[in-house]
Amino acid sequence: MMTIQEAMEARHAVRAYTDEPISQSDRAALNEAIAQANAASGLSMQLVCDEPRAFTTGRAHFGSFKGVSNYLVLAGPDSPELDGLSGYWGEGIVLLATQLGLDSCWVALTFGKGAASRFVEPGQRLSLVASLGHGVTHGVAHTSKPADRLVGYAAPMSAESAPAWFSAGVHAALLAPTAMNQQKFRITCTGAKTARLENLGGPYSAVDLGIVRHDFELGAGKGSFAWE
Ligand SMILES: Cc1cc2nc3c(=O)[nH]c(=O)nc-3n(C[C@H](O)[C@H](O)[C@H](O)COP(=O)(O)O)c2cc1C
Repeated sequence: MMTIQEAMEARHAVRAYTDEPISQSDRAALNEAIAQANAASGLSMQLVCDEPRAFTTGRAHFGSFKGVSNYLVLAGPDSPELDGLSGYWGEGIVLLATQLGLDSCWVALTFGKGAASRFVEPGQRLSLVASLGHGVTHGVAHTSKPADRLVGYAAPMSAESAPAWFSAGVHAALLAPTAMNQQKFRITCTGAKTARLENLGGPYSAVDLGIVRHDFELGAGKGSFAWE
């Protein structure tokens, strides 16, 4: 199995899938990780398999999605934090799927909300989904804004004095998927062991920020720093 760092490099949005089902052992591994993440976060994420309707029925515009029959439902108690939590905890599941050799794509808009909502418990809100499966291809790396447009330094820190964990975290954050590849975030090194993450606003940017926070922590190493 590839490492989590390799998974961040290898994960790309994939919207066309073959009809090969997700194996029983991969389903078990994903379900175990989902159960742990739900217990830790209070979310009710759910793996839906062999169920194409969220990408074939209703009035939804499916963009370029083809052959989607498996997806991760990201749902939980309705609160202002739900979208950020969905990004943060969902990214852990998406990267595990990548490690298992599966392809994925986060989907906030171009899917059938009605069909997916059947897997959301009463009283909970559907945030978004992520398609999962065996891709026709493994996708291509997104173009990224130059790091200097996404990164800042607060005195006394500077580009020259920034610690290695910060550069490693930024490297990972630039690999993170964002809605429409908008990358509306800013990461500032505020001290030898502190960083700040800001949302510059845009559609679904709260989900984006959860994903970016997760990937930055994986790159930097959770014990090397604290968020401000
Ligand atoms: C929060 C979020 C919502 C997204 N919603 C959609 C969507 O509705 N339809 C779609 O085709 N792609 C969607 N995407 C996929 C992005 O377009 C894609 O992740 C981005 O272009 C970066 O490419 P990458 O995933 O290959 O790194 C979404 C991604 C994120 C993070």
